[in-house]
Formats: sequence, C-alpha cells, structure tokens
Amino acid sequence: MKEKIAVLMGGRSLEREVSLRSGRRVCEALTERGYRVVPLDVTADLVPALRSERPDAAYIALHGKYGEDGTIQEVLEFLGIPYTGPGVVASTLAWDKAVSKRLFAENGIPTPAWVTFSTAAFKEMGAATALDLVPDAVGGFPLVVKPAEQGSALGLTRVTEAAELPNALMNALSYGDKAIVERWIDGAELAVSVLDGPDGLRVLPPVEMVALSGLFDFSAMYTPGETEYYVPARLDDAVMAEVVRLAAEVHRLLGCRHVSRVDMVVGADGVPQVLEVNTSPGMTETSLLPMAAAAVGINFQELVELLARAALDGIE
Ligand SMILES: Nc1ncnc2c1ncn2[C@@H]1O[C@H](COP(=O)(O)OP(=O)(O)O)[C@@H](O)[C@H]1O
Ligand SMILES: [Mg+2]
Repeated sequence: MKEKIAVLMGGRSLEREVSLRSGRRVCEALTERGYRVVPLDVTADLVPALRSERPDAAYIALHGKYGEDGTIQEVLEFLGIPYTGPGVVASTLAWDKAVSKRLFAENGIPTPAWVTFSTAAFKEMGAATALDLVPDAVGGFPLVVKPAEQGSALGLTRVTEAAELPNALMNALSYGDKAIVERWIDGAELAVSVLDGPDGLRVLPPVEMVALSGLFDFSAMYTPGETEYYVPARLDDAVMAEVVRLAAEVHRLLGCRHVSRVDMVVGADGVPQVLEVNTSPGMTETSLLPMAAAAVGINFQELVELLARAALDGIE
C-alpha cells in the first residue's frame, strides 16, 4: 500500500458543495491509485482527526474562505503535515484580489483598472461621498463590483450605470470587508492552469469559456451544458504566447507551488489582462484544470496523483 493521504473537503465556505464534489472525485482517484485515503470534512473535529490519523500528506480539495486563504495551510504547517498547492503566503496573496491586483500592477502585469473599498472606508471615513469619482477612476461603464475575497463569482455584479453602484457595493460588502470596483473587459475569458512539479513549471493549454447566458456566473461554472469550452482557447499565436508567458509570471510572482489557475480576459485590443489567481482550482466534472490537463494527455487520476506526490515528496 502507498502512503496515507487525508483529503480535506467541504468546510463551511460558500463553496462547500463544490468542494465536496471536488473532494469525492479526488478520493476516488487516489484510492484507484493505491493510496490509503482518509476523507475529512472540515469541522471542529478536524485537528483531532488529523492528529490521530497522522497522514503522510493532506490533499486540499477545499475552495473559498479558510481553504484557500492561508487558514488551513497554517494549521497544516503547525501540525507538520505536508499539503498540496501553494503555501501560506502565496495563498494569502492570491485570495485577496485587492492585494494581488496591486502586485500585478506594480510588476507590469496587465489587470483591469480598479479601485478598492472597505466597509471601514464607508463607515469611518465617508467614502460614500466620493462614489461619483468611481466611474472615471476605472475608465467608465460597464464595470464590475465584486468582493475582494471570494470565489465562484459570488457577490459579483456587472454595473452599467451610476445608480446601480451603491447596491452592487453593498452586495459585495455583505460577503466580506473589502470590495473591488473594476473595469469590465468585453472579450474572451480564459482560465490558464499552471503545474509546478519536479520537472519545473508547465503552463497547460488555456481554456476559453463562453457562457451561453453571457455571464460566467456560479450556475454557468458548475452546470453542465451552460458553458461552451474551447481547449486550447481560440487565440492567435502571438496572443497565445503572451497568455502563457503571463500565467507563468503570475504564478512565480505570487510564489505559488504545485498548481495555480490564472483567470484572464482578452479584450478587443488583444491584450490579456489578469483577473485573479486560484490556488485551489476546482476538480469537479466541469472544472477547468482537469479539462486543461486532459488536453495534454494527463487524465484525472494522473493529475491528482501528480499533486499528491508534490506534497508527499516535499516539492517546494
Ligand atoms: N473585469 C472583468 N471583466 C470581464 N469579466 C469579468 C471581470 N471581472 C470578473 N468577470 C467575470 O466574472 C467571473 C468571476 O470573476 P473573478 O474575478 O474570476 O472572481 P472569482 O472567480 O474569484 O469569483 C470571471 O470569470 C469573469 O467571467
Ligand atoms: Mg475566477
């Protein structure tokens, strides 16, 4: 029998159901590959369970808050259990779009123009009196308002006129303390997965998503048939090369290891712009990382084993 792996899944984040779907598939794949698998839902019993099970590694199949923001990573560091995916610092940076976008901008990585608001700026500093400045600050309408720390397009609103802005901000701020107002880029939507193992960094073919509803929202992400996927994305060679270069650069800039998925949009000007980085990409039936891996002949089981091995073998 191979090593014992705890698959962490579920938890209390808004993406719990998605994580359970990812986790179940990961458990099946690892079992098929001969590993001893301990599925663990993230509850108050998690730490005692990890202490008594003493797994050789943890596979993080969690998405969203506490699974992707550095929290579970700190717990695993404390317990001395190697885990899949980026470490504490990279997870923390990637999870907070207000921070990661700042890093992109300061390092020459194109990202849509944006401003960040916190609940405190509204409550303690009178920021609400300056909402009239927002459209110009991000280059006009349409724009998008989203929580700085969230996933799966939750709390996201596309805004086409000033009157909609306050409600969109209130909605985004109901998910967390910070919200981003960002220029909306009309164009191709891409998810670019990066694998980072013993043989170095490998950018998988970019996946292009076309949501039939026009908006790549929660339902479009997880309901089969609501989105068309193109692998590789339909880009001309020069844009494709730039997309691949940017994904690798962003992965390195945030200090990611093992895996990341960089979300981008390519506007009419052909310039790819980075929206965000996911450090625990979905592993469901409709997820983008497994789709990209399949396109280069890495099947789901192989993908899962590759990530588990990165943790077990201590790849930094
Ligand atoms: N500035 C933007 N321009 C165009 N589409 C956007 C923009 N921001 C978000 N979107 C759309 O919303 C989806 C989710 O936004 P994203 O920034 O990736 O956050 P998350 O996936 O963490 O919720 C994107 O995949 C894209 O479809
Ligand atoms: Mg995204």
